[in-house]
Amino acid sequence: MSGPIIDSPAAKQLFTRAAGLDGAGGNERLKRIVGRITTDLCRTVEEFDVTPTEFWAAVGYLTRLGQANEAGLLVAGLGIEHFLDLLMDEKESQAGLEGGTPRTIEGPLWLADAPLEKGEARLDQDPEQGTALFMEGQVKDADGTPVPGAVVDVWHANTRGGYSHFDPSQSPYNLRRRIETDGGGRYRFRSVLPSGYGCPPDGPTQELLDHLGRHGRRPAHIHFFVEAPGCRRLTTQINIAGDQYLHDDFAFATRDGLIPEIVRHDDPAEIARRGLSEPFVSIRFDFALNRILLLPICTASPAAWPSPTCEARSWTCRRYVGTSCPTPR
Ligand code: BEZ
Ligand code: FE
Repeated sequence: MSGPIIDSPAAKQLFTRAAGLDGAGGNERLKRIVGRITTDLCRTVEEFDVTPTEFWAAVGYLTRLGQANEAGLLVAGLGIEHFLDLLMDEKESQAGLEGGTPRTIEGPLWLADAPLEKGEARLDQDPEQGTALFMEGQVKDADGTPVPGAVVDVWHANTRGGYSHFDPSQSPYNLRRRIETDGGGRYRFRSVLPSGYGCPPDGPTQELLDHLGRHGRRPAHIHFFVEAPGCRRLTTQINIAGDQYLHDDFAFATRDGLIPEIVRHDDPAEIARRGLSEPFVSIRFDFALNRILLLPICTASPAAWPSPTCEARSWTCRRYVGTSCPTPR
């Protein structure tokens, strides 16, 4: 046969059968996606003449990636998570939904059910030698109206770049809180200025990055989910200005509009007023939420998720996958 083997009838039949596309039962959408992925992968194998040795090295790599629980790091490092942001931006733009605080990647280090506090919180429960950080702002809806009762879920690394739960030296939920905005839509918290994250140096993500001639560092940042009734849930981060990796994030998350001014306070009277003995920093940052992108009503049964039509149950939503629908429309 002339032309690539992947386009031959035998290969087409193979991957149609392997994805279950020739039979009833299962999830139609998933079958089509699996069929496409296996075909595209084997097209790459053929085009690059991948040897069996290389192929089995890749299989071994994926096994180690899973064993090290680093799949979430790699998808960010390869730009795939940022690509999802570009896709969602474009979808919203086509629907006429512009503006609002830019979204950026969630990353793999969020934890559900952080302690919920009203109006304000202190995040740094473990003692640390670092610079105290005071951050505050308002949550506003698409009309610019402050939203009382919005929930700001905030999480960040400590001064060594580690996240509680993933770093066993930290206490549970250290540097993680959910803060419900007050009657004026305001939130505020005290914490410690984080350091940037670095991929585990001996892990499989860094191993691949080394082969690509890349580093695995992120600039210092603070993550947020911001949720309010009737508004689109915002997933974002702010970056700490001045960080050496600010515009060289291995996970490609830095975006215009997410680098607030960091104000340094060294006035002894002000320091004393805060109950501190060292200079501290403050950040003011308002979150502007967008309207919900209204999509066709999802008719998929839970067994058929991920559904192509419902934003709340899209495959990017880790919260609701596998549970009953939290937002029936
Ligand atoms: C982080 O948020 O720190 C992170 C994001 C993607 C990959 C690794 C870490
Ligand atoms: Fe992070």
